[in-house]
Amino acid sequence: MTAPLRLGVNIDHVATIRNARGGSHPDPVKAALLAAKAGADGITAHLREDRRHIGDEDIATLMAALTVPLNLEMAATDEMLEIALRHRPHAVCLVPEKREERTTEGGLDAAGQDSRLAPLIARLNDAGIRVSLFIEPDARQVDAAIRLNAPVVEFHAGLYSELNGAARAEELRRIADAAALATKNGIEPHAGHGLTYDNVGPVAAIPQLAELNIGHFLIGEAIFDGLEGAIREMRRQMDLAR
Ligand code: PXP
Repeated sequence: MTAPLRLGVNIDHVATIRNARGGSHPDPVKAALLAAKAGADGITAHLREDRRHIGDEDIATLMAALTVPLNLEMAATDEMLEIALRHRPHAVCLVPEKREERTTEGGLDAAGQDSRLAPLIARLNDAGIRVSLFIEPDARQVDAAIRLNAPVVEFHAGLYSELNGAARAEELRRIADAAALATKNGIEPHAGHGLTYDNVGPVAAIPQLAELNIGHFLIGEAIFDGLEGAIREMRRQMDLAR
């Protein structure tokens, strides 16, 4: 069965540009509304511990302004749990976070942190927030997501996006196998990180995947083609592959 494939647009880097000058322009909320108009099915925003791009006020404004679902990416900490429970976004994607990293470098080790993650996921589940675990595409991590009652997993596509040739094909197969395993166990699989016009097709063609979250490339491409144009082209590439 081929699930409809949603596009979640990550607006973090609109805030990165805004914060470079410390003012209010460009406004990530305006970008989010434009993204929704251009065909984004949801908006993704990562509230980092150091608030290097999205800030607390952005989350409040996004919650008030958006008519499409907000997927809040966050580390599995008490501070972030409290923020999520206060704002109640549609979804929370739990990501690993290292202060010095430039971007989310690997998947969450759900398998190695069962006991720490379980109560946090339970609180989010109880609040009706759809929990997603950003994990590597491997069976051990999917098994942990099953044990942890996570309704969604997002597979880290970063390695896939960096590889070429046979190695890329092998990594794609790992994502496809993990997506099939997740679906078989009632978990909705998503994918994201490093996706571009050039590499999105084979990922979008994986029939079980229900959502792709894409940010950096779209915000960069918006410099050349405008945000609406970039999102429409990405949507077109995803639909072509499906
Ligand atoms: N999904 C998750 C969980 C992420 O952490 C990120 C990056 O913040 C993305 C998707 C989007 O990745 P990119 O910006 O490379 O498209």
